[in-house]
Amino acid sequence: MPRRNKITIVGAGNVGATAAHWAVQKELGDVVLVDIKEGFPQGKALDLAESSPVMGFDSNLVGTNDYDATAGSDVVVITAGVPRKKDPATGKFTSRDELVETNRKIVGSVTKQIVEKSPDSILICVSNPLDAMCHVMLHESGFPANRVMGMAGVLDTARYKYFISEALGVSVEDIHGMVLGGHGDTMVPLPSHTSIGGIPLPELLPEEKIEAIIQRTRKGGGEIVGLLGYSGYYAPSASVVAMVESIVRDKKRVLPTAAFLKGEYGYSDLYIGVPAVIGKGGVEKIIEMKLGDKEKQMLEVSANAVKDVVKLLPY
Ligand code: APR
Repeated sequence: MPRRNKITIVGAGNVGATAAHWAVQKELGDVVLVDIKEGFPQGKALDLAESSPVMGFDSNLVGTNDYDATAGSDVVVITAGVPRKKDPATGKFTSRDELVETNRKIVGSVTKQIVEKSPDSILICVSNPLDAMCHVMLHESGFPANRVMGMAGVLDTARYKYFISEALGVSVEDIHGMVLGGHGDTMVPLPSHTSIGGIPLPELLPEEKIEAIIQRTRKGGGEIVGLLGYSGYYAPSASVVAMVESIVRDKKRVLPTAAFLKGEYGYSDLYIGVPAVIGKGGVEKIIEMKLGDKEKQMLEVSANAVKDVVKLLPY
């Protein structure tokens, strides 16, 4: 009997548990949910498993506080960490950069424990600050860079596409586009590479409307934090599951991915969002698209913002 894919999700909080939900509904494989909180991943896994007879999926679900059950995972999604929050006293949001110190310790220790049990796995980082945490995972895992990637671009692109579909009153399915760069306010949406049913976006929306969508996309994470008081999780978890699906089903989708650049786009030794072919081999290929001068400039600003956070890491 062919073996089922094994997917481990570390951090059974909002993003992790919801990713498990999307993954089992798509029957992408068996799912192991890990968290440090005792009883928490077990409870989430059991509750979700009890929905299986109703929803009709046959994935096995395990919730655990130790890493033994994760052994031999094909794909591991790391969401463990502290999310951005709004300080009720000051009304200020935690910036992604402020999270670096706390989350690098959490992500580093999780990565070490994961790779001990699953030395052949592919790792996807979700914890923020995203691009910097990818560096932590690469460093701590000792894996080749094609097996360590981050999820940000799929989410940023999803928000961008949703806002376009809303502005035009058309199906989200017919919107194609990409958001590149780091996961933060400097991300780089590319209107000149965005099309609706093959028609270039600038033919359908005036410049000021496109600019407003770009600004809203850049602040998309903050908009949700402002409304909820904590980070969003439906769209982030759906986005990471799209990457998991492309890997386990070897779909070779072209997805905006936080990938380790080795000279592509003029950057080296840096994780940043670029279009990549995602399949069984992880990041199988980075696609270098032609960028205009303005787009190159925006990517430079974004790369510098990522470098500023990466500099805070001790390696
Ligand atoms: N090992 C395992 N799990 C951990 C660890 C650890 N060392 N440290 C924290 N966790 C768990 C927490 O117990 C919690 O259940 O990670 C989970 C995080 O869940 P939430 O607090 O609900 O945060 P969430 O909204 O899911 O965001 C997770 O994704 O988008 C990013 O910025 C976000 O970094 C954050 C991450």
